[in-house]
Order: sequence, then C-alpha cells, then structure tokens
Amino acid sequence: MTPLAVGQIPAGVVTLADHEAHAHSRLGSNAWTYFSGGAADEITLRANASAWSRHLLQPRVLRQLAGGHTRVELLGRTLAHPILLAPVAFQRMAHPDGELASAYAAAAQGAGMVLSTQASISLETVAKAFLGEAQRGPLWFQLYLQHDRGFTRELVQRAEAAGYEALVLTVDAPTSGARDRERRAGFCLPPHVSAVNLEGLRPPAPLALQPGQSALFDGLLATAPTWDDVAWLQSITRLPVLLKGVLHPGDARQAAALQVAGLIVSNHGGRTLDTAPATAAVLPRIVQALAGAMPVLVDGGLRRGTDILKAMALGASAVLVGRPYAYGLANAGALGVAHVLRLLRDELEIAMALCGCPTLAQATPELLFTPD
Ligand code: FNR
Ligand code: LAC
Repeated sequence: MTPLAVGQIPAGVVTLADHEAHAHSRLGSNAWTYFSGGAADEITLRANASAWSRHLLQPRVLRQLAGGHTRVELLGRTLAHPILLAPVAFQRMAHPDGELASAYAAAAQGAGMVLSTQASISLETVAKAFLGEAQRGPLWFQLYLQHDRGFTRELVQRAEAAGYEALVLTVDAPTSGARDRERRAGFCLPPHVSAVNLEGLRPPAPLALQPGQSALFDGLLATAPTWDDVAWLQSITRLPVLLKGVLHPGDARQAAALQVAGLIVSNHGGRTLDTAPATAAVLPRIVQALAGAMPVLVDGGLRRGTDILKAMALGASAVLVGRPYAYGLANAGALGVAHVLRLLRDELEIAMALCGCPTLAQATPELLFTPD
C-alpha cells in the first residue's frame, strides 16, 4: 500500500470554517463546486447550518464535572464520542489518498466511518485500513441500490466479507437534485477518479420511450427503490440496515414497522430537494414519532461542538459530518481529517463543561435556551 502523503495543518486554521476557507483556496473550481455545492438555490444547504445556530444553549454553573466524558452507546457498542464521517463520494477529488486517508484519520480519532457506494477507493482497502485500529468507531457501508439487483446483492456480500458492520441505505436521492452550480461550472469527474466499487456494473438497457413518457419516471425511476426493497435488503443481509435521508414522521413510522436498525435524519446536505427543511428543525419530530424504537442520527450543517451538543439534546444518538472532513482532507490529507475530528471533539467537551453537562446521557432539551 502506498504510504499516505503527510500534510500539515496550515497556520491559522483552528475551526471548521477555517478549513472550509482554506480548502476553497486550494481546490480547483471543479472539485470545489462538487464538494461545496447544493441543489438549486441552496436554500436547504444554508438552512441546515443556520438552524443549528438559531438554537441557543443554556449554561449551568457549579455542577460536578469531574469524570465527564463524550462516550455514547450505539447499536450495542460504546463509542468514544458520537461523531461519524458521513458518506461522501469521490474523495480522491479532494486529495490523492481519498477515502483511505479519511479511514485512517477516523479510526485514529475513534470516529465512525460510513463509506459511500461511490467511493473512489475499494471498499476492501478502506476496511483494512480502518479495522486495524483498536480505538476505532463503527465501520458502515452506504448503499445505493443499483438497477441491477444481482449486482447490488454482490456489493452487499463484498461489504459483509470485508467487515462492514451495518448498511446505510440512502433513500433521499432516487435522482440527484437540480445541481445548478455544477451545471454552471461544467462539473465533470476527472479521469483518475471513479466509483471503483461499481466496476462491472452494466449500464441499464437503453430506453425506448413512448410518446408522452418521461425520461426520468419511465427511465431512471422505473427501478428506484421502494419500501419493498428495504425488506428485500434486510432479507439478503445479516447486517443491520439503517435508512439515511428520512425527514417525515410518517416515513419514520414506516421504517419502524420494518424494524430497521436506525434512521439518519438528513437532507443529503442540501444536495437533493432544495427547500426541504433543515435537519435541526425536523429532528425533534422524528425522535418523537419513534419514541425510542431505534437510534436516530442526524447530519447537515454541523460545524461546531455546540451544534453536536444541541443535536444530542434534541434526541440524536450520534451525528455525522460531511463537507468539513472533505475540506480537511483537501487541506492536509489524513492529518486534515483527523484535525477536523479533533476540533469537533474538543469543542464538544468544552460545550458540555460550560453547560454543566458532564455526559451526553444528560443532554436533554432543557439544555436549550428558549426565549420567553
Ligand atoms: C454527499 N452525501 C452523500 N450521501 C450519501 O448517502 N452517499 C454519497 O455518496 C454522498 N456523497 C456526497 C458527496 C458530497 C460532496 C457531499 C457534500 C455530500 C451526503 C452526506 O452523506 C451528508 O448527508 C451531508 O454531507 C451532510 O451535510 P454536511 O455535513 O455536508 O453539511
Ligand atoms: C452526491 C451523491 C454522490 O451527493 O450522493 O454527490
């Protein structure tokens, strides 16, 4: 295996926002557009971050803080902290080490990692890098159901054989959103980056559309996953299945009826349906609808330890971050990803201490300040 390129954290980069600004100056406009962009007018993209900032935290003083920690329980395991790397496709566009660097960094920082179906490094290589670290968090595989269900089944079997511990079925992107920013910039994948885990997948048969048929509904969406496919997936795997991209309590209840292992409240970082609500706004409704039936995770716009504490106070079991670690990767490879995770962990501890909340089990809605 080629050694990782050891980067350096650029001087003055001390927050996730600093990482973002620095990555903007480093990445070419093609990659920057891909990683930073959202759908359409990017209303949801902006709303995600601002919804966390709108919640205020209520400091509490003079409480016993000794022995505090960030540990959480998730799917039968104790994690050092509640942060996972969200699935982000094509990471070799950010840095030559791509997902491999993210895996080493996440494992060393005790974070979980969710590898994208559209990763640019093989799922087996990533698993080997991650699973060797004693302090590691969970390793999950994000699945996009492919039009060829036989190929999908083989992909699931590969993930199981490689040691992935859960499948995360992304359900909010049967089609990608209206990516205006990408189209304006003429975005294209560079020749050295591809979805290597999908090699061998035959393209769907060419369409012969009848007059009046839609290229979207009668083409791509003719094989888009439905609730029946969730049950099918559960029937072909021994791994727990989580759904990523649920925003409606009715969908959460349907997922509970299928006894999925967990939900990720997500709007795909504002990259699918623009004007979908911010995840911070939706999370409490989903938590309420499920009444503890399964863990609820959340992603979208989390940029500070205080944001993570707010998510936990609103009932999340854990959180995922996407763009921030892609920016860390662009800035300094594995070291950059590790730095982003370390910053979040440190900020989370500081926020907990200043709220008088030594453990995340004590993070309840009472931590949030509600103006009269
Ligand atoms: C994503 N996301 C994503 N989700 C998924 O299920 N499979 C994927 O392959 C990808 N790929 C991807 C690429 C890029 C460049 C981004 C920014 C996002 C969505 C991702 O997992 C997550 O939901 C959001 O990124 C969370 O929002 P933040 O943290 O980026 O604000
Ligand atoms: C994206 C896809 C890969 O958001 O999920 O770019």
